[in-house]
Amino acid sequence: MQLLSDRILNMATSATLAMAAKARELRGEGKDIIGLSLGEPDFNTPDFIKEAAIQAINDNYNSYSPVDGYGELKDAIITKFKRDNNLTYTPAQIVVSTGAKQSLANIAGVMINEGDEVILPCPYWVSYADIVKLNDGVPVEVKTSIDTDFKMTASQLEAAITPNTKMLWFSSPCNPSGSVYSKDELRALADVLVKHPNIYVVSDEIYEHINYGEGHVSMAEFDDMYDRTITVNGVSKAFAMTGWRIGYIGAPEKIARACNKMQGQITSGANCIAQRAVITALNESPSRVQYMIDEFKVRRDLILSLLNDIEGFNTNTPEGAFYVFPNISHFFGKTFRGTTINNASDFSMYLLEEALVATVDGGAFGNPDCIRISYAASQEQIIEAIKRIKEVVS
Ligand SMILES: Cc1ncc(COP(=O)(O)O)c(C=O)c1O
Repeated sequence: MQLLSDRILNMATSATLAMAAKARELRGEGKDIIGLSLGEPDFNTPDFIKEAAIQAINDNYNSYSPVDGYGELKDAIITKFKRDNNLTYTPAQIVVSTGAKQSLANIAGVMINEGDEVILPCPYWVSYADIVKLNDGVPVEVKTSIDTDFKMTASQLEAAITPNTKMLWFSSPCNPSGSVYSKDELRALADVLVKHPNIYVVSDEIYEHINYGEGHVSMAEFDDMYDRTITVNGVSKAFAMTGWRIGYIGAPEKIARACNKMQGQITSGANCIAQRAVITALNESPSRVQYMIDEFKVRRDLILSLLNDIEGFNTNTPEGAFYVFPNISHFFGKTFRGTTINNASDFSMYLLEEALVATVDGGAFGNPDCIRISYAASQEQIIEAIKRIKEVVS
């Protein structure tokens, strides 16, 4: 009998984590690798949040919390949803989890049956397809391109819907393209969905605050979508709290209760100290973390201007998150020291080995013509990395 389950054998390793591991290995060999592969702010968690965690330790928060989160944290989340998104939720509609990643895994676990189709506009966040597959669902990729700023159009959505469609999952601002759906664009998608009342939406809004454009719109803001949208959010990105592991959902009550049940058998409540700190984070005005977003914008403009100077890098203008997603198919078929670059994976590996810059293969996000470059790095690192990339592709 085989040792490992088909389930795990069929699962892809997270490409972003795999690239980070490879970069670490090369660093261990003494190579000066610039890491632009991970999706994590390079800022420290703000002091006012750290102090709240220290206070929680001193106040002896050391017991299991309620599975779906402390009541005070749910209240802070409800306040945040109202203040930032004009969304009204009750405590029974909120579930706090160990990162938005667990929120997504919970949703898949409680909603997907074998053969259910989940529409994923491409490029999508690296874990969506594998979380869906792990739960016997079928990811249905909808290809988008730079011409539509990597956004799915209403007619593409319509064409992807079948009698087996259960859900649509998307992120806005998008990881990896940085694209942000406008209100009109979301409304156009909603207009298609209202004709198919059994389809639910996962609106992943974890980059909500890292938005350089007209501002954030939540799918659940539309009255006719509220009852079938699960709004996913978390503190990893905007508050520089990736390692604290707190995410949450606002969802129809039936779905929230099911997520609570699922989590109760798997992890119980999220880390109690982190939960206490997040109460403070969410009760503050988002303006407390605006300094990070301002800096990300400066870096976005910097990296775009540097990349636009390299022949063969075709980029959109990301309106949010902290990634650029250039199409680099110009380089396919080119050979270096006997090795031919056939796809984005080869290209990303070439950049790692020759330029000592870690990026991620766009294939992991459903688009093998692109690579993802994170600009959650200092301006000096960005300048040096793009200089190295320019040298090795010229
Ligand atoms: C679009 C998207 N959703 C969810 C997550 C997971 O975030 P968390 O750290 O809260 O698990 C990430 C993290 O990279 C992300 O980019």
